[in-house]
Amino acid sequence: MNKELGIMEKIVSLCKRRGFVYPSSEIYGGFSGFWNYGHYGSILKENIKCLWKQRFIFDRDDMFITDTSIISNPKVLESSGHVSNFGNEIFKIQVGTGDEAITSHLRPETAQGIFADFKNLVDAHHPKLPFGVGQIGKAFRNEISPRDFVFRSREFEQMEVEYFTKEEEWKKHFENWREIMNSFAKEVGIEKVHELEVSQDDRAHYSRRTIDFQFDYPFGRGELWGLAYRTDFDLKNHNLDYFDEEARKRFVPHVVEPSLGVDRTVLAVLLSAYTEDELGGEPRTYLKLNKNIAPVRAAVFPLLKNKPELVSKAREVYENLKLETRSKQLGAVVFDDNGNIGKRYRRQDEIGTPHCITIDFDTLKDDTVTIRDRDSGKQERVFINDLVSKITA
Ligand code: GAP
Repeated sequence: MNKELGIMEKIVSLCKRRGFVYPSSEIYGGFSGFWNYGHYGSILKENIKCLWKQRFIFDRDDMFITDTSIISNPKVLESSGHVSNFGNEIFKIQVGTGDEAITSHLRPETAQGIFADFKNLVDAHHPKLPFGVGQIGKAFRNEISPRDFVFRSREFEQMEVEYFTKEEEWKKHFENWREIMNSFAKEVGIEKVHELEVSQDDRAHYSRRTIDFQFDYPFGRGELWGLAYRTDFDLKNHNLDYFDEEARKRFVPHVVEPSLGVDRTVLAVLLSAYTEDELGGEPRTYLKLNKNIAPVRAAVFPLLKNKPELVSKAREVYENLKLETRSKQLGAVVFDDNGNIGKRYRRQDEIGTPHCITIDFDTLKDDTVTIRDRDSGKQERVFINDLVSKITA
């Protein structure tokens, strides 16, 4: 086995051991292409999605958010060309029973829900071009060979934006979203992203230009996200258009689409963060996750579990820190008194907790605690009152 493949196996094993990701229906032997996110995996995923919402939607004045149904009238995916272009790859389902049953499909991308709702959005909000609509949701593809953990699954999640613009302005917006995607990669801790200009032969049926954002996975370089210029293809197919009040004319807007897979983001984040080093002469494994997405921001420990005065002080510090960090949206704080301190550090390192705070006998005298930095393993003594600024620094 080569070294790189070993890393993939180590990630899969850490994900199971620490409650990030499990095979779906594992007690029955699993089900190829389906995965379950455990406690920390769900929080990590949620933190990534929250950051995406912030950067792609709420930081801007020209964006809306939506949440459309996974199953739609069959005409949506027929009109979009998915049924004819991806006939075998989309999951067929029966809606209703007996003679009344209608054949429809599980959506293979979240995008079509946004296009099909275009008129509703315009009627409700009267937005001026350019504007966009974002959505996070599940998508399903009957992949022939699901592989490489959550890289290629049959059920996965997407974070997509459909950005509507006048035809003559698409290039400018394409470049703008390209920058946003690159800076989002950095913000979640994915450093090595390569852009690939996708050739005409390899582009999806709706795209006139696509850039794949690729990542160096242990199994080879592969797609992480895509940015596509979908022209007016989709709105035209759904017979939808836009009335420009200023120009007093009706036309079909063009679309630029940054599309990010949540699961591939999680995988690239975990692979980027996975680190092995030596600390105090002992080998250790830790996730060097960025603070803004780590499932746990800080863990609070009493030095000894069997000393009620330490446990109660640690609980007090924990409760206060939880309240303060919640109001500042700094992520989760946990209380941990399981096993000895060494074991607790190892556990928190493996889930990527940036700070561990220990309450000891000196705390009872002078209200100071030790705070340990995940990456260096260094500990320093600080006042309880300074903890929030320490964990935000
Ligand atoms: N709406 C455009 C669209 O769906 P895509 O390139 O087919 O474009 C977008 O998919 C993103 O969705 C990909 O870049 C990837 O992150 C994710 N994705 C696609 N298929 C996937 C699969 N089988 N498993 C996990 N993620 C997938």
